[in-house]
Amino acid sequence: MAGGPRITFERLTKADLPLLHRWLNIPKVALWYGVGDDNHGYPTMDEVIAEYEEKLVPDPKNHAFTVHLDGRPVGYIQCYRLGDYPDYAKELDEDPDAWAIDIFIGEDDVRERGVGSRAIERLAEDQIFSRPAVTMCFISPDPGNKRAIRAYEKAGFRYVKTVWIESEKAYEYVMRRGRDRDG
Ligand SMILES: CC(C)(COP(=O)(O)OP(=O)(O)OC[C@H]1O[C@@H](n2cnc3c(N)ncnc32)[C@H](O)[C@@H]1OP(=O)(O)O)[C@@H](O)C(=O)NCCC(=O)NCCS
Repeated sequence: MAGGPRITFERLTKADLPLLHRWLNIPKVALWYGVGDDNHGYPTMDEVIAEYEEKLVPDPKNHAFTVHLDGRPVGYIQCYRLGDYPDYAKELDEDPDAWAIDIFIGEDDVRERGVGSRAIERLAEDQIFSRPAVTMCFISPDPGNKRAIRAYEKAGFRYVKTVWIESEKAYEYVMRRGRDRDG
């Protein structure tokens, strides 16, 4: 976007974990983004380490980044091939070769300024649809998370179905985007 804010991604490192801990304890984040099998908010530092440590090691499954706005770290984004999480792929009942994205903007002054939707579009282009074989990407907010749903619509995602995710004991509002935005 010419003249707009510059969004970049940096690979998650151990040094980012205290920042993740702070962000995940901010009420507007904790309400919708959690850790552990039950996806609970307000994690302790030990819980943040347990959740994110495995994403720090070099492994083709790991695509975890901090989101930077004009150089300032403002949030977290990750993407993964569904087939690398077979239980989840089965619960979604979608193609294991499709990918999925999770995101939160940690800094209160940055939310609702278009950064989340643009970061998702950028990540989809850079990390997902840059792989020639990938044709579909999913993002699955809580059905009550209207702000996230709107942000994902702006990034080209469209509603598919609502599914019960037994492992998280919660419904997800499944949205998808093809390579050609509205595909
Ligand atoms: C969800 C999130 C990543 C979106 O990023 P963002 O930068 O805030 O989103 P954007 O500014 O790109 O878009 C937000 C849109 O939602 C709209 N919105 C805000 N509150 C809303 C509501 N209650 N109902 C409907 N739309 C709402 C905004 O007006 C904006 O749409 P517009 O540009 O058409 O006016 C970010 O808000 C966030 O991290 N929230 C807390 C954690 C979270 O929910 N993570 C996602 C888990 S799936």
